[in-house]
Parts: sequence; structure tokens; C-alpha cells
Amino acid sequence: MIRPLVAGNWKMNGLKASLGEVLAVAEGVASGATGDAEMAIFPPATLLYAATVAAKGVVALGGQDCAADADGAHTGDISAEMLADLGASFVILGHSERRADHGETNEIVNAKVKAAWRAGLTPILCIGETQEERDGGQTLDVVGWQLRDSLPEGASAANLVIAYEPVWAIGTGLTPTVEDVAEVHAVIRQSLVDRLGEGAAAIRILYGGSVKPSNAAELLAVPNVNGALVGGASLNAVDFLSIAGVYKA
Ligand code: PGA
Repeated sequence: MIRPLVAGNWKMNGLKASLGEVLAVAEGVASGATGDAEMAIFPPATLLYAATVAAKGVVALGGQDCAADADGAHTGDISAEMLADLGASFVILGHSERRADHGETNEIVNAKVKAAWRAGLTPILCIGETQEERDGGQTLDVVGWQLRDSLPEGASAANLVIAYEPVWAIGTGLTPTVEDVAEVHAVIRQSLVDRLGEGAAAIRILYGGSVKPSNAAELLAVPNVNGALVGGASLNAVDFLSIAGVYKA
């Protein structure tokens, strides 16, 4: 039995006033609105510490990226140790916006996954194809090599979450069919098991890309979908709780 994870990626959104949303999510979780799902919020780093207070210990917190190094002369960067020091337990790595906007290669992401482990954080490693790659029939190849090259040795169900996020579905309102999601998640599962052994059957594989209250039930019921990575709809506590409400018995 895999405990599902519903993760909210706030991206570059949120000021102090947004902490009320974290509080509202925490209250919803405490009142049972999200069943047995694990809930995590990824606010901008500026809000991380205050968010840990608002989360009341019932919602996990994470960073949206980390540097590969633990410290040093890297102006503007934030290390995995710094995130952990503020109370983060997760970090999103290899998000397509980082890959596209900051030139993050699989090799860079691989080093950041190691950094997350060094600091005791669980990375949510993001992979997914562009529209062009999907149109070219390359989805399974792209996801396969991203997974192979971004993931260092030493992964297990205890220290890794994967997020499959088709780039063309992020922030667009578009989603793949449930058949397409099932196909990609099955391939990710198989390649994890091939590489890491049967224990990889318990690694959580999230779906991300335009998850909202109206499509959550359908997407989260797909085999090998063990939760969601939610962007836009996670900014609002009511919507975020409603998505995770799929897991309420
Ligand atoms: P979205 O973003 O839910 O707004 O599509 C998902 C993500 O980028 O993680």
C-alpha cells in the first residue's frame, strides 16, 4: 500500500499574506479532508520558514530547487542544507521550468538529487516530454533517458518521488488522456524496477500538469499514479484540499 502524496508547487507566487492558505490547508488536513494522503507545499523559499509554522506539523514543506553544493561562493543560490535547516523535508528537482529557463541538464539535476540526499531531503524528480516530442512519438524515449540520466545510484522508495509532468500540460489546462498517463507511468514504474529491484514498486510516481478539482478523481485513479504535483490549483487552499479530497475514504 503506497501512501499517496499531493504536492503543491507555488512557483514564484506568494507573499506573506499567502501564509493563510498554508494555515487553511493545515486545518483541512487536520480535520480529515484529505484522508490518508500525505500533503506537501512548496512555497517560494522566502516563505518557507514561516510556512513551517503555519503548517502546524500536518503539512510537509519543500523547496522548489536547490544548489548542488552545500555552501560556498554561489550568490543567490540556496543549498539543500539551507532548506532542511528551515524545516523542509522535500525538494522539487528538474522541474521543466528550471530545465527550460535555467538550462538545467540531466547531469545538473543528477548532482542536485545527490545534494538533496546529502541534506536528508526527499527529491521530487520531474520528467516529461514537450509537445514537439509527443507529436514526434518520442515521449517514452524522452522520459526514459531523463529518468536514467537524472537519477543517481542509491534511489529507493524511502528517498525518492518521481513526478511525470508533460511540459505541454503545465499551466495550459490541457491534460493527457488517462490511457496516455497510464502508459507513461507504467513505463516509469518498469524502468525503476528494472534498475532498482522490486522495492521500486513502492516509489511514488506523481502526475503533474493542469491537475484541478474537476479532473483529479480521474487522473489520480490511474494505475501507478500515486499522487499529484499541482501548480496553479495549489495556490488556493480550497482547490488544493479538494484535489486531495479524492483520497478521503
Ligand atoms: P500546473 O503546474 O498544475 O499549474 O499545470 C504543475 C507544475 O508545474 O508542477
